[in-house]
Amino acid sequence: MLAQPATPAAIARRDAVIDIDPDASCLEIQGLSLAYAGTPALSDLTLRVPRHRVTAFIGPSGCGKSTLLRALNRLHDLNETVSRRGAIRLEGQEIHAPEVAVAELRRRVGMVFQTPNPFPMSIYENVAFGLRLQGGLRKRQRDEVVEWALRSAALWDEVKERLGDSAWSLSGGQQQRLVIARTLAVKPEVLLLDEPASALDPISTLKIEELIRNLKSQLTLVLVTHNMQQAARVSDYTAFLHGGELVEYAPTDALFTNPRLARTENYITGRMA
Ligand SMILES: Nc1ncnc2c1ncn2[C@@H]1O[C@H](COP(=O)(O)OP(=O)(O)OP(=O)(O)O)[C@@H](O)[C@H]1O
Ligand SMILES: [Mg+2]
Repeated sequence: MLAQPATPAAIARRDAVIDIDPDASCLEIQGLSLAYAGTPALSDLTLRVPRHRVTAFIGPSGCGKSTLLRALNRLHDLNETVSRRGAIRLEGQEIHAPEVAVAELRRRVGMVFQTPNPFPMSIYENVAFGLRLQGGLRKRQRDEVVEWALRSAALWDEVKERLGDSAWSLSGGQQQRLVIARTLAVKPEVLLLDEPASALDPISTLKIEELIRNLKSQLTLVLVTHNMQQAARVSDYTAFLHGGELVEYAPTDALFTNPRLARTENYITGRMA
């Protein structure tokens, strides 16, 4: 079949999407379309996510940010109404390939949601949870990983004297950092964050942002945020989505100071809801 001739709009969009070096990319999304009960939510998205960088997904409510993030660790698997086309590769391997175990994929690609969701157990046990599921660690080794994960999540100093207390005794901001520590404990390669600070106060938000910036030395981060200042503060690359399409994808500085397309400019300047 002959390829459709590209429309001027499609050419403009293609020019506004940065091409990340395949060798430097951790995730590769190619021609991804997704629909809920036949209603499209993502249309033919193609982008690469660079390794050890923070990539932000921005765009108006309902544009498909969470849908895309959830696709990256197969959270749609249990939704029978979802249909999907296209490829998602993690370090070159298609995540839907039959040999990929979904539990192992979710260990490699961790996810943190908007509302902190610590388990009803102690601070220590929350972080040790995934390690216990994996098994194989002696108590001393487990203690070391728990401390490492809590330090990585910038929470250790606040909780080291009270590891046996209920996780629910922590503040919202501390709970979110605990959830990040729980995710880090199993050593993921990618951390997906869906508006991780939108339920938090400004000080807790700044702590999460600092944490995100510091974590990129360890892993690849993908951040969904409504807050454009936040995207500008923490991300290296920004993808602007609208109506389920990838409109523009560029280094964050370039996207915010010199957007290529009018649609992007209208959004970042507040002319589009
Ligand atoms: N489980 C679902 N079943 C049916 N439709 C859904 C489901 N989840 C999302 N949608 C629809 O898919 C589209 C994209 O939703 P999504 O949650 O990905 O948007 P979003 O960009 O994350 O929005 P927000 O900024 O409000 O969180 C919307 O039209 C939404 O109504
Ligand atoms: Mg969302």
